[in-house]
Amino acid sequence: MNKTSENNNLAVIILAAGLGKRMKSELPKVLHGVCGRTLVELVLDQVEGLGAGEVLVVVGHGSEEVSKAVGDRARCVVQSEPKGTGHAVIVALEGLDSRFDEVLVLPGDSPLIRRPTLQSLLEERRTRDAAASMLTVEMDDPAGYGRVIRDDDDGLTKIVEEADASEEERALREVNACTYAFEREALEKALGSLTADNTQGEYYLTGVVEEFVAGGQSVATVPGVSEEALGINDREQLAAAGAVVRRRINHELMLKGVTMLDPERTYVDWGVEVGRDTTIMPLVFLTGQTKIGTGCSVGPCTRISDSVIGDRCGVEFSWLDGCNVADDANVGPYSRLRPGCEIGAGCKIGSFVEIKNTVVGNGSKVPHLSYMGDAIIGEDANVGAGSITCNYDGEAKYKTEIGDRAFIGSDTMLIAPVRVGDDATTGAGSSIYEDIPDGSLGIERCEQKNVLNWREKRKKERGKSK
Ligand code: UD1
Ligand code: CA
Repeated sequence: MNKTSENNNLAVIILAAGLGKRMKSELPKVLHGVCGRTLVELVLDQVEGLGAGEVLVVVGHGSEEVSKAVGDRARCVVQSEPKGTGHAVIVALEGLDSRFDEVLVLPGDSPLIRRPTLQSLLEERRTRDAAASMLTVEMDDPAGYGRVIRDDDDGLTKIVEEADASEEERALREVNACTYAFEREALEKALGSLTADNTQGEYYLTGVVEEFVAGGQSVATVPGVSEEALGINDREQLAAAGAVVRRRINHELMLKGVTMLDPERTYVDWGVEVGRDTTIMPLVFLTGQTKIGTGCSVGPCTRISDSVIGDRCGVEFSWLDGCNVADDANVGPYSRLRPGCEIGAGCKIGSFVEIKNTVVGNGSKVPHLSYMGDAIIGEDANVGAGSITCNYDGEAKYKTEIGDRAFIGSDTMLIAPVRVGDDATTGAGSSIYEDIPDGSLGIERCEQKNVLNWREKRKKERGKSK
């Protein structure tokens, strides 16, 4: 079925111009994020598959930032003053081509809505040839939402905002999701008679529903799942939405064969890929453009951002950012891999090791307490405990090269630029500032002096001075 042509006369309007006062934030509300995606992007994700002829986002507060986040995914229309949801729709319709005879309106602050729900809303209106169809849900706690008012025969009469509701009306649990399909002509007509005669002095979109009912036009209500209608007005609702999105992402991953010890405590961004038979332990954060291979063990307590991890790798208690780790490598516990690291197959990066902008060849090991920065390490090399590349002189960064099968003795200072050849060795505790040829030993140490019977001598000397 070609949805694009099917819905060619449909325009979608996403409302995202409001102040978002209750967020108490410098950031426009719809730019707050859950699982690595902004609220407005999450809504766009669901809208895009509908094949609408045009998608509009009404922007206002922080319009430049919001438009930037929307990019070319939709056309942004500026509502210069937030005079209410009804007014926002009026602004959006102003420049809309006349070929669009059907309009879907939804809020930019309800990121949990799903495409099938929007589809059924459209279908319901078309089947009944109604002026509008609207999504309503039963909320355990309806506070803050517009209540759906019905007459004795259960027929819809109007929607009352919380601020305008009576005690009795506030007790109702069926609420408006602010998500509607409209027949455009009827919508425009009803918008024309909206007033701002309410507690908030705004042009409420809900007013058109009352207008339709009063004029004898039909409005279909479509019952939805409460979760999908969650509107984000404050930080608690943002956290609640985050939990739902997280559950959805983790559910998908588990269906694909990923083991999660505690999905409620596993934080995976949208778009992150994890291969089958990989086990993720608690307190793992996988963010950005991250891809984890198959049969890995990740966590606990690990953060991996914008990194690609191969198959059968182990990463625990570590932080990796902007790295590539090849198959069968082990990282951690307590490793920090900063951007630009290429860790080869079968490598071991061990405890308290920091690596930056460094290539580690296949089979090499940096097992303990080291800093490798701006280095190229060959294959099957071993970097002993406490070794450091002295890559920075306060002004510029310099390269260190470590050859294949090189053995860096413990506590070697590699004063860059410097090269340790293939099969070369450094003596433990050396400060290496000159290149070491292939197969050679580089050792830099003061001669050791032993003072015999030193303790006894010292004791005597102290006794004398008393
Ligand atoms: C709105 C509905 C309410 C419903 C709830 C569902 C109205 C009057 N109220 O209330 O019945 O239960 O959503 O979540 O419609 N916006 C603009 N321009 C404006 C005002 C708002 O673009 O001038 C946008 C906001 O950015 C937001 C959306 O419209 O994304 C809804 O506005 P908001 O102020 O959050 O309305 P609610 O009080 O949640
Ligand atoms: Ca809202």
